[in-house]
Amino acid sequence: MKKYISPIKAPKVSIAPMVDRTDRHFRYFLRGITKKSLLYTEMITAQAIIHGDLEKLLAFDKIEKPLSLQVAGCSPDDIYKAVKLAEAFDYDEINLNVGCPSDRVSGNQMGAVLMAYPELVREMILAMREGTKKPITIKHRIGIDGTGYLSDDFNNKIFDRYEDMVNFINIIEDAKLDRFTVHARVAILAGLSPKENREIPPIRYDEVYKLKKDFPHLNIEINGGIKTCDEIEEHLKYVDGVMIGRASYENPFMLRDVDKFYDGDIKNSLSRKDIIEWMLPYIEQLETNGENPNLILKHGLELFHGVRGTRQWKQIISPPFKDMKASERVKLALRELPEDILNSK
Ligand SMILES: Cc1cc2nc3c(=O)[nH]c(=O)nc-3n(C[C@H](O)[C@H](O)[C@H](O)COP(=O)(O)O)c2cc1C
Repeated sequence: MKKYISPIKAPKVSIAPMVDRTDRHFRYFLRGITKKSLLYTEMITAQAIIHGDLEKLLAFDKIEKPLSLQVAGCSPDDIYKAVKLAEAFDYDEINLNVGCPSDRVSGNQMGAVLMAYPELVREMILAMREGTKKPITIKHRIGIDGTGYLSDDFNNKIFDRYEDMVNFINIIEDAKLDRFTVHARVAILAGLSPKENREIPPIRYDEVYKLKKDFPHLNIEINGGIKTCDEIEEHLKYVDGVMIGRASYENPFMLRDVDKFYDGDIKNSLSRKDIIEWMLPYIEQLETNGENPNLILKHGLELFHGVRGTRQWKQIISPPFKDMKASERVKLALRELPEDILNSK
């Protein structure tokens, strides 16, 4: 008999944490497209959770579940406190960010630089375990390159070989992580912006496949540059799950097919019209609450990516919404856009 693995612990597909994108409004929008994928919050620092407005930072709608909270930090104590505070919100898991290369994050010894300090990462994971019974997962890179990076004890250190990643995993493994999400690119810490760090270091999928081969008992998810369902299907031959980042934003309609990876070939039979109708009550609710409807609409701009009607859709739903309420404009779009495209599944 096939071993049952909870789809929360081992999602076939997840939508990557993305600062300024995966806010609660985007996640609500995505739930109109994929019911099964694991969603993530944006990265939130432990310090922000400890000192910030918890309701504003951590509250979400149950409909967004399964949902992972991604935290960043560099101190086991802070991470413990943050995880403990998040308990009241009932996330499905807590994920530790060990992949962000931004100067601000690295400068505070958080994110990708932590790959150079596996013992500290291990301590943080153990601290997270103290704070919650929920699954604990990690998102890291295949390695880091610190050439020219000016920190006292880190300058010019390079951890970018497969053996370095194995060393990292060996040290943190006994803290019993529930999933390792591996962005299949090295992070270059000096001289590249976060955007360049998602594009310039070459993709090395083979090393993630090899990791799964060498550590078959670990739950390994692959990430980086994956854009289509065919590609997801190919990766799933080698690893347990696939994380999609930018493609979820650039072409969200593509995600309508990903639930089939859970339900044995049954894809969501959804049209763009269904997705717009999913958003409509949410937009009306924002209007009723006196909030900006663009909080969700901006995430739907690419719903017609690559098909007829995309310009018209963007024109109709883009602010300012002077003469007509946003919800009325969305209804107008439903009347005006090409019917075959609106209804195609
Ligand atoms: C705008 C933006 C913000 C991001 N913010 C985060 C973040 O908060 N935490 C994180 O672990 N990765 C973050 N990432 C990286 C993504 O999670 C992902 O690893 C990366 O985009 C590669 O996947 P992709 O090629 O499918 O986009 C961000 C990426 C983008 C484009």
